[in-house]
Amino acid sequence: MLKVKNVLLLVIAGLFLLNAAGCDVTEKACTKKPCEKKASLKEGCMKKPCEKKVSICAFEQNKRLGRGINMGNALDAPREGEWGVTIKEEYFKIMKDAGFDSVRIPCRWSAHSLNEPPYTIDPVFMKRVDWAVNCALAQKLPVMLNIHHYNEFNLDPKGQKAKYLALWSQIAEHFKDYPDTLMFELLNEPRTKLTPKVWNKMMLESLALVRKSNPNRTIVIGSGDNNIIEHLKDLHIPEDDRNIIVTIHSYDPLELTHQGADWITRYDSSKWMGTKWTGTAAEKKAITDKFDTAAAWGKKHNRPINLGEFGAYEKADMESRARWTKFVADTAVERGMSFHYWEFCAREFGLYDQQTKSFRKPLLDAVLPKK
Ligand code: BGC
Repeated sequence: MLKVKNVLLLVIAGLFLLNAAGCDVTEKACTKKPCEKKASLKEGCMKKPCEKKVSICAFEQNKRLGRGINMGNALDAPREGEWGVTIKEEYFKIMKDAGFDSVRIPCRWSAHSLNEPPYTIDPVFMKRVDWAVNCALAQKLPVMLNIHHYNEFNLDPKGQKAKYLALWSQIAEHFKDYPDTLMFELLNEPRTKLTPKVWNKMMLESLALVRKSNPNRTIVIGSGDNNIIEHLKDLHIPEDDRNIIVTIHSYDPLELTHQGADWITRYDSSKWMGTKWTGTAAEKKAITDKFDTAAAWGKKHNRPINLGEFGAYEKADMESRARWTKFVADTAVERGMSFHYWEFCAREFGLYDQQTKSFRKPLLDAVLPKK
């Protein structure tokens, strides 16, 4: 009798330990294959992906994001095309064939919706985003879809809160039957008046709202003040929601990555022109220290981490850009993080040259292992 009791106790203790490890207890759910029905390219990506829902663990989801890329400067521009990028269906195939695992699609919903209740999203824009998501899913590229460049919200969180929530309510409702390879990122780079403290409150409200229609969707949440690592410590996510990936951005040192970038207003970035990154021990340590902080935070809170943006502006020399990019990508991967390079094919950071229809090899080799 005593033996049976001991065995029972051991089993219970074992289950408890698995639970404490976070992901393991849902291992079965994690290994369940997601819905993989294809929307063929010929049909113009309009076919709805199949609607099977599976509950899945955030750590597994983060592995699926793997080494990804941003489809940037397109749907996040004030109007698509204004920043030199109009998405083409073939882009997603090019990404997939190159070896990318996933794509982040930044979207400026705020510029395509009413400014007063009910804050309706322009159906034409919704259709376009829907198309882009389907094109990516058709290539078996998991998608991270977000609200990007919502500058009005950063400047006036109180005044814009109703619109922010209304946007999520519409986006979440629209995509609620999509497969679990579609993930929602609640907001890109909260900043200025949307301080880390205010962001925590808004984030909680938007998460609760999205969960109503998407109880099983993986949600991505970033730290405050431009998603920097230093503000991870101020991010408070509900303990009982385990289907969350936490995202950070890293462009450090700005003197290299944003030299000559005229959209940087905090500093005079023209003074940084000519800054190189040679990979000295000190330069590397400045980066690994930060990533160690992020990894330690992830471990402590049992949350998977995604590096949602990193990249170096074209005004830096190519050798430094490639060296830095490779070091950051490797540093993230070594710490179990997924990443999305900023970005695919705009002139400023792009890996892919739209004119020559070819990759900038040194940058591509920096983010993907050699085939
Ligand atoms: C912005 C881009 C910008 C990049 C680097 C992104 O978050 O959306 O417009 O080029 O950061 O500064």
